[in-house]
Amino acid sequence: MEFTALVRKRRTVRRFETTPVDRAVLEGIARLAQRTPSAGFSQGQRVIIVTDPEQRRRVAATCDEAGYVEMGMGPWISECAAQFVPCVSELVYRRRYAEADKGGTPEGEQDWPTPYWWVDIGKTAMVLMLAAHDAGLAAGFAGPQDVPGLQAVLGLPSEFHPIGVIPVGRPLPDQRSPSLKRGWLPFEEFAHWERW
Ligand SMILES: Cc1cc2nc3c(=O)[nH]c(=O)nc-3n(C[C@H](O)[C@H](O)[C@H](O)COP(=O)(O)O)c2cc1C
Repeated sequence: MEFTALVRKRRTVRRFETTPVDRAVLEGIARLAQRTPSAGFSQGQRVIIVTDPEQRRRVAATCDEAGYVEMGMGPWISECAAQFVPCVSELVYRRRYAEADKGGTPEGEQDWPTPYWWVDIGKTAMVLMLAAHDAGLAAGFAGPQDVPGLQAVLGLPSEFHPIGVIPVGRPLPDQRSPSLKRGWLPFEEFAHWERW
């Protein structure tokens, strides 16, 4: 899909077919997401791809899927073709910036005016969602309520923090988020020329 259309048409979808998607397509989405830039080329981002239905249900439970079902939105986190879980390690960045070409400051003494690990994994998540749409699929985003539970379900090394669960699949009619009633900010409030 053409880039402008892809960005404009992408939206958070919250209902999917459970029919499987070819592993090669899912892998293609993950491979594009790996191309996200990272501070110091630290590459502290990882992605877990979950297709097994039982495992999808365990993952969805850590995002309180039952709460969405109660709200009438259906089990949109577990019922999909695959879940992509972007994870990031702050320690990878701290180790990288302790290297000589990045100043060599010991990990514990570094000053991070902006914690770039959060910046980078956000970009990874965005590429995952856009890549899913580009592949003719749709994607949602659910914030995990139980991060230690999700780490345990996925068997993550303790330094890796999962920032969300991105269900992906062929879209079904869904319930739009009430948050959308807020509308977009006027562009002039978002963008400022030369200075605020
Ligand atoms: C960091 C982040 C966390 C989000 N968490 C949730 C969530 O827990 N549940 C949910 O239904 N949507 C969640 N969303 C989706 C937003 O509600 C959605 O992106 C926003 O309303 C704009 O809608 P759109 O993506 O369709 O343009 C999240 C989005 C982001 C970027």
